[in-house]
Amino acid sequence: MPLPKKPKHFAPTVFVVLGATGDLMAKKIVPSLFNLYEKKALPPHFRFVGVSRRDWDDEDLRRHMEAILSVKVPHASRASVEAFLQCAIYHKLTFQSHDDYVALGDALKKIDAEKGMCSNKLFYLSVPPQFYPEILDNMKRAGLHEECAPSGGGEGWTRIVIEKPFGNDEKSAKSLDAKLAKIFHEDQIYRIDHYLAKETFQNILAFRFYNNLFENNWGKELIEKVYVRELENVGVEDRGPFYDPLGALRDVGQNHMLQMVALTAMDQPENLDAEAIRASRAEILKALKPLSREEIAGQTFRAQYDGYRSVKGVAPNSQTETYFRARFSLDHPNWEGVTFIMEAGKRLIDPHEHKEITEIEVVFRHPSPCFCPKDMHCRNSVVFRQDPTEGITIHFWSKKPGFAMDVEERTFEFDLRSEERKSQYTEEYEKLLLDCMEGDQTSFISSNEITAMWHFVDPIIKGWQKGLVPLRHYAPDSPAILAEAQVVDERPRGGSKFAKEIGVFGLGKMGANVARQLKDHGWRVVVSNRSQKPIDNMQAEGFETAASPKELVSKLKSPRIIWMMITAGKGTDELLGMLLPYLRKGDIVIDAANSFYEDTVRRATMLRKKGIRFADVGFSGGPAGARHGGSLMIGGDRKLFEHLEPLFVDLSVPGGYSHFGDAGSGHFVKMVHNGIEYGMMQSLAEGFALMKKSPFKLDLQKIANVYNRGSVVESRLVGWLEDAFKVYGQDLKKVSGSVAYTGEGEWTVKTGKKWKMKLPAIEDAFKFRVKSSKSPGYMGKILSALRNRFGGHSIEGTK
Ligand code: BG6
Repeated sequence: MPLPKKPKHFAPTVFVVLGATGDLMAKKIVPSLFNLYEKKALPPHFRFVGVSRRDWDDEDLRRHMEAILSVKVPHASRASVEAFLQCAIYHKLTFQSHDDYVALGDALKKIDAEKGMCSNKLFYLSVPPQFYPEILDNMKRAGLHEECAPSGGGEGWTRIVIEKPFGNDEKSAKSLDAKLAKIFHEDQIYRIDHYLAKETFQNILAFRFYNNLFENNWGKELIEKVYVRELENVGVEDRGPFYDPLGALRDVGQNHMLQMVALTAMDQPENLDAEAIRASRAEILKALKPLSREEIAGQTFRAQYDGYRSVKGVAPNSQTETYFRARFSLDHPNWEGVTFIMEAGKRLIDPHEHKEITEIEVVFRHPSPCFCPKDMHCRNSVVFRQDPTEGITIHFWSKKPGFAMDVEERTFEFDLRSEERKSQYTEEYEKLLLDCMEGDQTSFISSNEITAMWHFVDPIIKGWQKGLVPLRHYAPDSPAILAEAQVVDERPRGGSKFAKEIGVFGLGKMGANVARQLKDHGWRVVVSNRSQKPIDNMQAEGFETAASPKELVSKLKSPRIIWMMITAGKGTDELLGMLLPYLRKGDIVIDAANSFYEDTVRRATMLRKKGIRFADVGFSGGPAGARHGGSLMIGGDRKLFEHLEPLFVDLSVPGGYSHFGDAGSGHFVKMVHNGIEYGMMQSLAEGFALMKKSPFKLDLQKIANVYNRGSVVESRLVGWLEDAFKVYGQDLKKVSGSVAYTGEGEWTVKTGKKWKMKLPAIEDAFKFRVKSSKSPGYMGKILSALRNRFGGHSIEGTK
């Protein structure tokens, strides 16, 4: 049990529930308040005012509360219950009647007068959301919103608690928020999502930010997928009228599930203040990428359990989903390319066999390279378990005892506490109600979060209403539908038809490695090359090969994807000339060489006229990047880019690809990248040559090593330089002092000139290379050594 917080208030606190005869009183409020009372955690002089339109008196209210407690807290002592009930008084009010609100105000003033001081007031709206606007207006007119204390602190505060759903969509949520904002300050508004008060989800912050073990790997570099799931064994029961207009996505997806995503993915907040934590959560929720029509069709799934339509209050032809699954991603630098999947629903598990499951599963990437057998995916995962038991499970791989190096999956299990008899909502509401009274908004949702969550969910609901995704049906109490729903995990983004099949032309260091990388990712790859030898080598590795561009085209099914990776220049035009007669409308050509971007623009126009789709890819990362994932700068039609995303995902480091604009933009960005690379390499060469000459007898390898540990110039280039010193020695004796170069530095300089811009650092770096063939020296050696390390270029240094 959590330790009760010490009440901080001395002024009386009056808890006013509008809708005191409703469902929430029984399920949430009364048992939680009673438990707080028993733990002596309620503020002193606590009063409870139950408000409803029934013709009741205090005694009726107390008997109602007693009946609730006899069911929810059956072992409570009679004396304790009676003592607790003494704090309760009743007030009759019709939501529409202004006078009744004025009378309520008078009743509250009477309490103040009895105590001789202005009390704290907490209004809890336990009513169907359609009544919120009217109640809020009436509260304002009667002055019930006014605080004795100036806003933001001190005794005599007034606060309001509201339950989900906060609106029905983004528009209505915004208008509700606008109404609330006219009456209350944000620090007076407490929007409940009880998932934020669950121990396991609160523990995510501790797990992530108090431990150094995982946090540095928490993001796209190492995490591949995040699943959030809530699989219930109960059905809609007696909540038909509430549930049927909502459905699972609005009932739990728009709030609980997305908050689980926010807690998992949020950046470390500046501190543990409510404002900082809420801002970090909101930042993630704003990064949710709304799904397009095609994505809704391909990446979401909805279903209803058989028998749901007979539930009281449910329409006989209801199209409401009682289960959903959705795949999505975040537009956030730390999470690009990571797949998120959320699913939730009712009657998915046989209650006699299993308890319900609520958890977040964070799946790490397969190690790369990995010693594991080809068909084994050695993933690690961390599971935050809420139900059936609260805790954390870490999955890892371990050697099986014995002589062989066989591995098996094992787990570390950690239980947050031994299982206790839990009563739904009670513990969470104890925390939440106490937090409201203490003024801690951490576990409540901010206005920004609400809007962001609807912004993501609205298009899906609209898409479903338009019939983009058929409503499936499932047998209740069976998990069979869960397996069926996994279809959304596999369908390509955008839901379009996409066969993982490609032709790669150009089998140099880069092209051959691209082919290998794609084959490892399950692509059917047909390879070809101008000369025969590389084709034979790849055939020996088990690749399908083609002797000519014509044969390459003939071995692929339309719409074809052809990846060209040959030395840029005339050869590219020639190759296109050989491919074109055989390509069909709709086929796709990707130029992944370092072509000059103006040539690319020209070629794209020519291909477009013939109905061939075209993308340009600037590929950085050298042969190692081509083999295990590089950085891809992409130009061309945006729709085509989206269609080809599965390809780019398989070829890049996590999140290492982006679309920049029309055809040519990818090669342009890559050209400038290489220009910058010239300048950076030149600076390193000059600096290290200077240090070599110094009287200190410096160890350059050690310098490179320490430069790469937290310094401002820490970089991959410095790492490669350290490596070069290790391999060739500090004098780089064997390495040529004249530096080879291809076109891109020169084109960057030319482009600068054309646009009348001075680029002195890049221009000098380029000229240095040109001159180095006549005056080789140590700086040239450094440049050649670097080229050798990152690009596998020869250390002979010839052009
Ligand atoms: C509520 C939903 O917000 O959360 C219910 O309205 C759902 O439909 C419930 O059953 C799940 O909460 P818990 O705490 O039981 O996981």
